[in-house]
Amino acid sequence: MKLLIVYYSLEGNTKMIAEKLAAKTGADLLEIKSLKEYPKKGPSKFIIGGKDAAFKVCPEIEKPEKNVKEYDAVVIGTPVWDGTIAPPMRSYLRDTLIKTENVAAFACMAGKDPKKTFKVIKELVVIDELKAEVSFCNPANGNDPDMEAKIDQLAQAVM
Ligand SMILES: Cc1cc2nc3c(=O)[nH]c(=O)nc-3n(C[C@H](O)[C@H](O)[C@H](O)COP(=O)(O)O)c2cc1C
Repeated sequence: MKLLIVYYSLEGNTKMIAEKLAAKTGADLLEIKSLKEYPKKGPSKFIIGGKDAAFKVCPEIEKPEKNVKEYDAVVIGTPVWDGTIAPPMRSYLRDTLIKTENVAAFACMAGKDPKKTFKVIKELVVIDELKAEVSFCNPANGNDPDMEAKIDQLAQAVM
């Protein structure tokens, strides 16, 4: 069974979970890279990224280095921006046909409620149910005590 973990990460939290999950499962990793540069610091960080998320902007992204069609299972990882998926992940999902039904997702966020993130992922993938919907609270800062258990939950859902 071939598993692909596709993720976008601005500040490293989503990347960290994606890499830990890959280490556990032997999955391939696909990082989505935005051609539009989103600021990582200062007030513009939330203003620019938040506005694009709220207005469902799809920034240009680099051509993905792996083809999702070659995989039996997919895990999608995104930070929560303005209560929804980050714009570069929106671009990827808008332009990508994921045929397998074996899809799980995780979201990294600062708060406790991913709000409509998973609903939007399901709409864009065009799937009724995800095998797992798992959220992490800024795990790179050591803020999420259940991190390892949640990574196991994701791995078990798709393997
Ligand atoms: C533009 C922007 C908007 C954000 N909006 C939210 C939000 O609505 N809710 C929330 O809990 N966290 C929000 N955050 C915080 C990130 O979701 C959180 O820090 C996440 O762990 C970052 O993942 P990353 O390190 O992979 O980029 C926002 C961060 C940015 C940059």
